[in-house]
Amino acid sequence: MNVLGIEVSSQVKLHARYGGVVPELASREHVQAMVPVLDEALRAASAGLDDIDAIAVTHGPGLAGALLVGLNFAKALAFALSRPLIGVNHLEGHIYAAWLERTEEPEFPALALIVSGGHSDIVLMDGHGQYRRLGETVDDAAGEAFDKVARLLGLGFPGGPAIERLAAEAGTSAGRLPRARLERPYDFSFSGLKTKVQRIVRGEEGEAPPAVSLAASFQESVVDSLVTKAVQAASNYGACDVILAGGVAANSMLRAELTERSPVPVIAPPPALCTDNGAMIAAAGYRRLLAGETAGLGLDIAPGLRIG
Ligand code: KG4
Ligand code: ZN
Repeated sequence: MNVLGIEVSSQVKLHARYGGVVPELASREHVQAMVPVLDEALRAASAGLDDIDAIAVTHGPGLAGALLVGLNFAKALAFALSRPLIGVNHLEGHIYAAWLERTEEPEFPALALIVSGGHSDIVLMDGHGQYRRLGETVDDAAGEAFDKVARLLGLGFPGGPAIERLAAEAGTSAGRLPRARLERPYDFSFSGLKTKVQRIVRGEEGEAPPAVSLAASFQESVVDSLVTKAVQAASNYGACDVILAGGVAANSMLRAELTERSPVPVIAPPPALCTDNGAMIAAAGYRRLLAGETAGLGLDIAPGLRIG
């Protein structure tokens, strides 16, 4: 696959002052960003509207208001240009981001670890478009934990990159932080870890260590939980490849540790394509188009739509 033009309109600055995404503001920003983003992507690709063969759009999961803006814009385009419309699951988009810069086919079954601001899922992929969820977070998603702990440490939003940068400065970590033990082997839990960091920061567990060391310990704990369970699932289900996807997949410690501990090759998009972008939705849409899976103009949002 070849990315001809990619444009991402980031709302990070807008939401940063609230420490997280404000749904109402997000929808309104989408309304304003839609046309300029399309214009810019076409300009980068030296292409015009007529060059578009099909339109893929995220229809869930996500914030309903923001999804509606994108879906209706995509429908209008498909209708005006008489082109097929394809509804894409956001998580499937993250998975297929791995094939934006890669030609080899995945080997099935493949084990996908999808880690973002809203999800921490372990998914077994039996073939293109065939998913079985083996585990998920029972509380906070991994990215959400990074964002919340970053706030506790007085860092900016999004928290993942801020914690990664700070942790890289740490000479030593602040010691081992807990890993959650859960009933289901491939589920995750990060809220206990966040509470532990909160207690340490507040001095409830003795003198608080420096933020750099705490950031390093927190990152180690999250990465260890994610990698341990993904690797176990890959072995137990005889996966041929491990796919690492979602915004948190941009984390270099996670990438390195998973690559080191995985019994099979790890496939991950380049860091810049791990966080939300339109190209990954196009990549997943292309697969569905090849399979003849197009949608009608009645396509609805599926905010709760989940893989598996
Ligand atoms: O997939 P994504 O862009 O948006 C959602 O679908 O949620 O993921 C965003 C999440 C945020 O929570 C952000 O803090 C986290 O990914 N993230 C990272 C890194 N870059 C982004 N977490 C850890 N390390 C990073 N380098
Ligand atoms: Zn995402």
